[in-house]
Amino acid sequence: MNTRHYLPSAFLATVIAASVFGGSRMSAQRPLSARSAATTLRPSGRLVVDTAKLYTEAQATDGATVWTNTCAGCHEAKDVTSADFRTKWVGRSLFALYEQIRTTMPDDAPGTLTAEQYLHSVAYILKLNGLPAGETKLVADSASLSALTFALPAPPATP
Ligand code: HEC
Repeated sequence: MNTRHYLPSAFLATVIAASVFGGSRMSAQRPLSARSAATTLRPSGRLVVDTAKLYTEAQATDGATVWTNTCAGCHEAKDVTSADFRTKWVGRSLFALYEQIRTTMPDDAPGTLTAEQYLHSVAYILKLNGLPAGETKLVADSASLSALTFALPAPPATP
């Protein structure tokens, strides 16, 4: 949880319209650090270079409040932006991340926040990872969250 190493910008910016949620939810294993970033992406659907806007600014702002009030006592932002975190979560569905947080956090009182607070935490985590806000709200619905993949924004094109 405290590595400062950031992976090279090899992450593709993708939104995979197809669901990639393959029943791996709740897996609590640590990331396999030997895996390359590229293999954490599951090319099981159409890859669309992303400027996908999966949440609204208002949701992220509320998520930031949740983070400050509830999460920051134990976490630093790098806990959800580090190479370890990305290796584990990039390429998986937002539902997997949402469920992981909803069922295990806060670590000392899991499940005690509202669905909206958990959802907005996810929006804030997307923002912390550099994904842009837009007009469309993220919705706390298993089907729609399952259809969205945690993907990072494209690195700037090299000239
Ligand atoms: C009381 C301390 C505590 C609080 C409060 C807390 N967490 Fe955690 N969190 C932990 C610990 C400890 C772990 C590591 C658990 C593990 O790796 O098994 C963790 C792990 C996580 C992970 C998984 C990180 C990874 O690398 O996969 C996420 C995401 C997360 N927390 C989000 C949150 C959010 C969002 C909140 C606020 C709603 C929150 N946590 C509040 C202690 C806390």
